[in-house]
Amino acid sequence: KIIVLDYGSQYNQLITRRIREFGVYSELLPHTISAEEVKEMAPKGIIFSGGPNSVYDDGAFGIDEGIFELGIPILGICYGMQLMCYKLPGGKVAFADNREYGKADIDVKNPESVLFKGLPTKQTVWMSHGDLVQQAPDGFEVVATSPNCPVASIADDSRKFYGIQFHAEVQNTEYGHEILKHFTFDVCQAEANWSMADFIQQQIAVIREKVGDKKVLLGLSGGVDSSVVGVLLHEAIGDQLTSIFVDHGLLRKGEADQVMASLAGKFGLNIIKVDAQERFLSKLAGVSDPEQKRKIIGNEFIRVFDDESAKLDGIEFLAQGTLYTDVIESGTDTAQTIKSHHNVGGLPEDVQFQLIEPLRTLFKDEVRELGEKLGMPHELVWRQPFPGPGLGIRVIGEITEEKLQIVRDSDLILREEIANAGLEQEVWQYFTVLPGIRSVGVMGDGRTYDYTVGIRAVTSIDGMTADFAQLPWAVLQKISVRIVNEVAHVNRIVYDITSKPPSTIEWE
Ligand code: XMP
Repeated sequence: KIIVLDYGSQYNQLITRRIREFGVYSELLPHTISAEEVKEMAPKGIIFSGGPNSVYDDGAFGIDEGIFELGIPILGICYGMQLMCYKLPGGKVAFADNREYGKADIDVKNPESVLFKGLPTKQTVWMSHGDLVQQAPDGFEVVATSPNCPVASIADDSRKFYGIQFHAEVQNTEYGHEILKHFTFDVCQAEANWSMADFIQQQIAVIREKVGDKKVLLGLSGGVDSSVVGVLLHEAIGDQLTSIFVDHGLLRKGEADQVMASLAGKFGLNIIKVDAQERFLSKLAGVSDPEQKRKIIGNEFIRVFDDESAKLDGIEFLAQGTLYTDVIESGTDTAQTIKSHHNVGGLPEDVQFQLIEPLRTLFKDEVRELGEKLGMPHELVWRQPFPGPGLGIRVIGEITEEKLQIVRDSDLILREEIANAGLEQEVWQYFTVLPGIRSVGVMGDGRTYDYTVGIRAVTSIDGMTADFAQLPWAVLQKISVRIVNEVAHVNRIVYDITSKPPSTIEWE
């Protein structure tokens, strides 16, 4: 494997990602790791990531200099290269007058140098730095320069130490992939033999070792991440895992049954299903403010989870579906304390569990791949995003069981017709909302005064921005006809044609 030491760059998650795409296992580790620990891991190579600081800052992130003595190849990227030049004899790092941020053209002075072999001598790279290297350390050759950066890349073939001032891991660096590939295979001589199947075996071994004969608790939400964690843990430790699945009555139609049929039925997980619909509905009665609704749902979730877990004896571990992106957001240096409780709802304060987070090195699409490798059904693994407060924020204003019924039934029709039209993969998220407006209609010979249902369908990459999906009229028409005919108390359908921004995806 190749390890990446974390100096805080916003791009460093991408470095491990790229290397894994080459079929070589890679993981991001704190830069505070000792030479002894690295030696024990025996990686094929080490990458020092970029970072926002200057090597001259007070408390600037350093390195156990013993790492330079291990005989393991090193690639420094941006801050990582500056750190090498600062620490190794003869190198010099200077404050730059201006930050350089954006595209730059480099000039490869030695096209035979291993990182640049076979690549054009002029290439566009992505720069993002304040300081720059003025002089390479003893034993290094300057292999590339740029107008703003006299030392854009350095190489010491005898020690196998390399540095690049630019970010090879981002798409904007024209030959970034090739440069990282050269380091991975030509310098480190790593073998492309890592796959998701290996990951599963590796994790199962790690989980067994950690858990021993103790018991583990998991909060299942019905979403992708916690479901995958459940199946993976079940493979590893079988019935030492107990899962709690809170049905708050705000799930989509058939969802709770589907989760139970699949995870408890097919995969044999031991799941305690808590039917808490009444509890949630009574807490929500008369409340129409969206933020207050969210708060009530979140708090009640914690209470239900606490009540149930308090009934269990001898649990020492808590499993969570934390992903790499969550880890990055909360900082890789943080200790393993229990952080935001959004995955499980929460924990009684006096109970100290140890955490198990088998997905913490994976990205969302890797989790999906893992789920498929574990034999999980497509509809569970490729589930569209669904908010924690569920249908509670799709019934606008006060929530009643009657209104929930309308949203559930209309949502199911929408899902069926999107599937029939083969649009599931093209539309990122789609659902119906009940704005609570009633309007006049005519059905048969009679006047009606019934609800309006809104259809929301968007395309998006990550939910941060979104465009309304341009669904074909014929599909919309079919959905409209079916909802009005099949769902009681609905006589009008509207289609939401706003993007995000200025709207949000959900209506509340
Ligand atoms: P908005 O409505 O903010 O939604 O544009 C962006 C994405 O986030 C989902 N969403 C939530 N997810 N808890 C969640 O876990 C929430 O409270 C929540 N609110 C919105 C939403 O479905 C969309 O995918």
